[in-house]
Amino acid sequence: MLTLKHILIFTLLLTTLLEARMDRYDERGFRVYLQYCKECHRDPYEMAGKRKAKKWNKLFKNNGQKLIAIHKKDDKRVKKVLKRKSKTKHLRKFLMQSASDSGVVIGCDGNYCGH
Ligand code: HEC
Repeated sequence: MLTLKHILIFTLLLTTLLEARMDRYDERGFRVYLQYCKECHRDPYEMAGKRKAKKWNKLFKNNGQKLIAIHKKDDKRVKKVLKRKSKTKHLRKFLMQSASDSGVVIGCDGNYCGH
């Protein structure tokens, strides 16, 4: 028999599932990207989709040495964001979550729609 308790448990499960789906990417990392990388690299999803998650992870290793090397010393913004562990952590997570092998389809969502 379907009791109120069953319905409650079912509703709870459904909400958890929905929330898990909505958490497709690290929103803070997304905002860090907009602040520090967008100016030169534009669309965050397009950029993230250029690499596999593993590759992104590599670029951020050793305090982002590789990422700094790519940008040669001339870009202060890259260095600045990499100095801040709390921001870098989120940025890396976002890029990995939206990487080319993540299954995320480039497109619009509630927060962002290109350009
Ligand atoms: C002032 C401009 C500028 C900013 C800001 C900037 N980059 Fe770059 N980035 C460049 C340039 C120029 C290149 C080299 C272009 C090339 O060879 O494709 C590059 C290359 C790269 C590459 C390797 C090539 C590619 O297109 O995949 C990665 C990865 C990258 N940047 C990530 C980032 C990330 C992450 C941030 C934000 C923390 C960032 N960049 C911020 C200018 C910038």
